[in-house]
Amino acid sequence: MNERWTPESWRNKPIQQVPAYPDLEALGNVEQQLAGFPPLVFAGEARKLKQALGKVAKGEAFLLQGGDCAESFAEHSADNIRDFFRLFLQMAVVLTFAGSSPVVKVGRSAGQFAKPRSSDTETIGGVELPSYRGDIINDIAFTPEARIPDPRRQVEAYRQSAATLNLIRAFANGGYANLENAHRWMLGFVKDSPQSARYRELAERITESIDFMRAIGIDPETHPEMRSTDFYTSHEALLLGYEQAMTRVDSTTGDWYATSGHMLWIGDRTRQVDHAHVEYMRGIKNPIGLKCGPSLTTDGLLKLIDKLNPEDEAGRLTLICRFGAGKVFDHLPALVRAVKQEGRTVVWSCDPMHGNTVKAASGYKTRPFERVMSEVRDFFAVHQAEGTYAGGIHLEMTGKNVTECTGGARALTDADLMDRYHTYCDPRLNAEQALEIAFLTSELVKQERQGGARIDPVAAE
Ligand code: PEP
Ligand code: CO
Repeated sequence: MNERWTPESWRNKPIQQVPAYPDLEALGNVEQQLAGFPPLVFAGEARKLKQALGKVAKGEAFLLQGGDCAESFAEHSADNIRDFFRLFLQMAVVLTFAGSSPVVKVGRSAGQFAKPRSSDTETIGGVELPSYRGDIINDIAFTPEARIPDPRRQVEAYRQSAATLNLIRAFANGGYANLENAHRWMLGFVKDSPQSARYRELAERITESIDFMRAIGIDPETHPEMRSTDFYTSHEALLLGYEQAMTRVDSTTGDWYATSGHMLWIGDRTRQVDHAHVEYMRGIKNPIGLKCGPSLTTDGLLKLIDKLNPEDEAGRLTLICRFGAGKVFDHLPALVRAVKQEGRTVVWSCDPMHGNTVKAASGYKTRPFERVMSEVRDFFAVHQAEGTYAGGIHLEMTGKNVTECTGGARALTDADLMDRYHTYCDPRLNAEQALEIAFLTSELVKQERQGGARIDPVAAE
């Protein structure tokens, strides 16, 4: 049971979703080069995030995790990062106020490059090519050359992650994250939203609170904590050679940490308990996530928890549930009961994206806003019924005004999708849709805090 773990012990296990690199020597050289590069994050930060998530596990904070489905080399610009960060802060203000408790901010960014695929190949117009697996592995262009896995892309992904993280850190600590800024941007959104009446009341109460604090001398000029924020990075730990190269011993504790991001998660396709991805993740000390989809059994989950969090450390493990609208009641209650009965400490988070991807008549993959929100509602309803804590949401979103998910206050239709469909992988909520989700979720968070009013589950369709 307690086999020795090393950063490479995953190599002796069965593994899914591995790219077929044609030149293994070149791959080895790149991994060696990466192993000599500076870490992107440092262990103390990962520990701080784990502590913050420990508060979420106890019901004292809320987790907001979100960002691109897949970051891309082509869309790497200051504007993109700024718009994403700005959106994130606005969502966090709304959720913080609603719950009167801290929001732990974790971006799917600065490292979210590798994508699991349901099929190894893709066929377009009778031509079959290897699937696109994310910019860290191959290129999205539909040509045989582009789809060959190229290890040099790992170095480029590392450098892009470093640059993204650098700007995020500057925004988080250099004054941009000022609470009054985030509040002002949010008011702009409310004013322009077709649903503004619904959001105005909460927005006005936030304004009053900020005005009141200013009146008694608590403002960003005199209180540095109102000018800065803790912002963490996360990605799916899919490409294990890259992760291994970025795994380092923390000199203060002697423990191993993944230094490619603060938090890593295991995807729904690679969570087999005796396989490579779980093996790698059990040995690193970072906070980790586990995607929980419809095929996960209670027994399977408990085995995974034993392996991934044997010491029942609060904040170590976040269960990111993604069942699909209308399916939450079929799966989540049993899992919640089993975890509760075993007395295990986890963060329960809801990913309302990955179980709600549908193909529109136009052929685009999309996610109807109503289905996304319906899964969030059912997630809260289950936790309310079970007496457990709905601790967070996990979204695919962008700060840009894309047209990838249908619905929302502007009622984007199937016909709108072709306008600005830019994602490299799954459809993301645009800035307005994401902020709407934050407002609607804030109503659920508030009810949860007050422990009162019953949340009515909403049917999927
Ligand atoms: C993802 O988060 O982009 C993803 C692929 O999710 P899942 O593993 O839940 O399918
Ligand atoms: Co995705």
